[in-house]
Amino acid sequence: MEIIITKGYDQLSSVAARIIRRQIRRKPDSVLGLATGGTPVGTYKELIRMHKEEGLDFSKATTFNLDEYLGLPPTHDQSYHHFMRQNLFNHVNINPERIHVPDGMAEDIDRHCQWYEERIREAGGIDLQLLGIGSDGHVAFNEPGSSLGSRTRLKTLAEQTIKDNARFFAKEEDVPRFALTMGVGTIMEAREILLIANGKNKAAVCAEFIEGPVTARVTASMLQLHPRVIVVLDEDAASQLKQADYYRWVQEQKQRLRDVPSQVSFLRRPA
Ligand code: PGA
Repeated sequence: MEIIITKGYDQLSSVAARIIRRQIRRKPDSVLGLATGGTPVGTYKELIRMHKEEGLDFSKATTFNLDEYLGLPPTHDQSYHHFMRQNLFNHVNINPERIHVPDGMAEDIDRHCQWYEERIREAGGIDLQLLGIGSDGHVAFNEPGSSLGSRTRLKTLAEQTIKDNARFFAKEEDVPRFALTMGVGTIMEAREILLIANGKNKAAVCAEFIEGPVTARVTASMLQLHPRVIVVLDEDAASQLKQADYYRWVQEQKQRLRDVPSQVSFLRRPA
């Protein structure tokens, strides 16, 4: 995993958006995996700016969101459909026909989850998957104990997640107890993964998933087995990493090499 430690949330958002911009420029018809939550809001703001000021073109891109709450219609102001429209889709030139978010109102949930997996396959698989991380180590809604080979399915939310997400609802009881979510196995099939995390409340879990054992207790730790993962953290989220100095050193060395002409592919970071 490549670990990039940034100064704060704005820098984190700008680095993450540049990685996504690089993907779209390299392959305009990219299949992007998208995430919701507080963390990616700044990244989406920056992508909107890139679209408006630099003409970053989303018209050929296809998107798949990670998850959706069970029982919330797309019009509900806490649904992830609504979140994505508000925070990204309404502000860029994405083709609505190429947007995919699991349907929290699906009548036959198992069939819908299977259908979602098939759509991902049909689109050629996900090129770049954006992820946040829950304070309990989940990616998407793959709560502790989720199978590390899991596919898109219905999950019961952990109590910690309900508490964490209560800030978006009028009261904790309003937070749905279930969600449709891509599985860990689904996420692991993305060609490249970009995980972002900020804030002190993510420090312990970031140390666990980056430097601890691979375990279903912290489903993000599975990313250690993926060949192409970039983790972008702010200093608070990185504050419990034992090897933080080493990750910084690696980035400095790469920066030095970037200053000289090089064909080494891993040095090709976004401009
Ligand atoms: P957050 O959620 O960005 O709101 O902290 C992250 C997650 O639960 O994946």
